[in-house]
Amino acid sequence: MSAVLLQDGASVQRPAGVVAQATNLQRVYRIRRGLFKEPAALHAVGGVSFTLEAGRTLAVVGESGCGKSTLARMVSLIESPSSGQLVVDGHDVAAMGSAERRNLRRAVQLVFQNPYGSLNPRKKIGAILEAPLEINMPFDKAERKRRVQEMLRQVGLRSEHADRYPHMFSGGQRQRIAIARALMLSPKLVVADEPVSALDVSVQAQVLNLLADLQAELGLAYLFISHDLGVVRHIAHDVLVMYLGHAVEQGPKQRIFARPLHPYTQALLASTPGLAKERIVLKGELPSPLNPPAGCVFNTRCAHVTDRCRAERPVLRPLDERLVACHHAEKFLDGAPVVSVVNVPLASAKSS
Ligand SMILES: Nc1ncnc2c1ncn2[C@@H]1O[C@H](COP(=O)(O)OP(=O)(O)OP(=O)(O)O)[C@@H](O)[C@H]1O
Ligand SMILES: [Mg+2]
Repeated sequence: MSAVLLQDGASVQRPAGVVAQATNLQRVYRIRRGLFKEPAALHAVGGVSFTLEAGRTLAVVGESGCGKSTLARMVSLIESPSSGQLVVDGHDVAAMGSAERRNLRRAVQLVFQNPYGSLNPRKKIGAILEAPLEINMPFDKAERKRRVQEMLRQVGLRSEHADRYPHMFSGGQRQRIAIARALMLSPKLVVADEPVSALDVSVQAQVLNLLADLQAELGLAYLFISHDLGVVRHIAHDVLVMYLGHAVEQGPKQRIFARPLHPYTQALLASTPGLAKERIVLKGELPSPLNPPAGCVFNTRCAHVTDRCRAERPVLRPLDERLVACHHAEKFLDGAPVVSVVNVPLASAKSS
């Protein structure tokens, strides 16, 4: 079954195979601005909803500071939402005690942008991969070693790599190791925050192929964070476009890439090499999240802005098989398709 998108606050049945479901998730940071001033509220994530099923990838895209990593930290149970509901693997996270939450953390694993920073340079790869098993599983040494060997094979590395240190690997191989470590506890959901952004383009393709292979093999759900629609194009089933903490458009990749209905999505696609015929240059600077514009959050940079956009915040509403938060989205329905999405074959996944 394909992912079911939620509108804020809507009550929706949990379809079979749902791994994570977020309803109106919000995260507010209190920022101190001086000794005698009231702290300001920074709405890093201002109400995001989605449903993610086993075997599916939801890509979260948007420019720096739009709230992608904050959303990733909430979904991976590192940080608690300020409000809204998060259900992971059938458990309402807010209703759980700390011991239960620790158990649930095994089902959700993180992969970061910089694999070197997250691998202990003094430990051999075998020890790094064994550590999660040692802490969480009742396996003896022989069984742990067997599982490490099996995992190395699954991510396209060799058994002798277990005896090497992180600095002895290339960037792509290190990201394979980080993926292997994330998979040691057989998670259901992998939250990957810019996992290929630090890699060369050819290595990016290999790691993306590996992620796709592992998803097909293991039925993993991915929350895939990226600022790069060129990357998202290869890996996503569904896309959630964020701007200043808000979802402005979300739905199936095919629909959104073929005919983006939000002017911000159009600009993002147009700025991605090879995806669009013409470039759209956004006017102005990204507003401060401490002082977001009234009305539509995108109105200060939008070429189609009207008085209504400055006064009234558009809600996410269904249109043309996706959700879009723009008062004027109908205007873009009849335009020629912007990008035709074909699944472009990538280089082989099993080497880098
Ligand atoms: N712990 C924190 N305390 C205060 N503000 C924070 C904190 N974490 C994030 N923010 C702010 O929340 C907003 C969203 O940040 P976030 O890191 O989620 O963005 P992002 O989309 O991941 O950006 P990037 O693409 O640069 O990684 C930013 O304005 C950021 O400064
Ligand atoms: Mg980030």
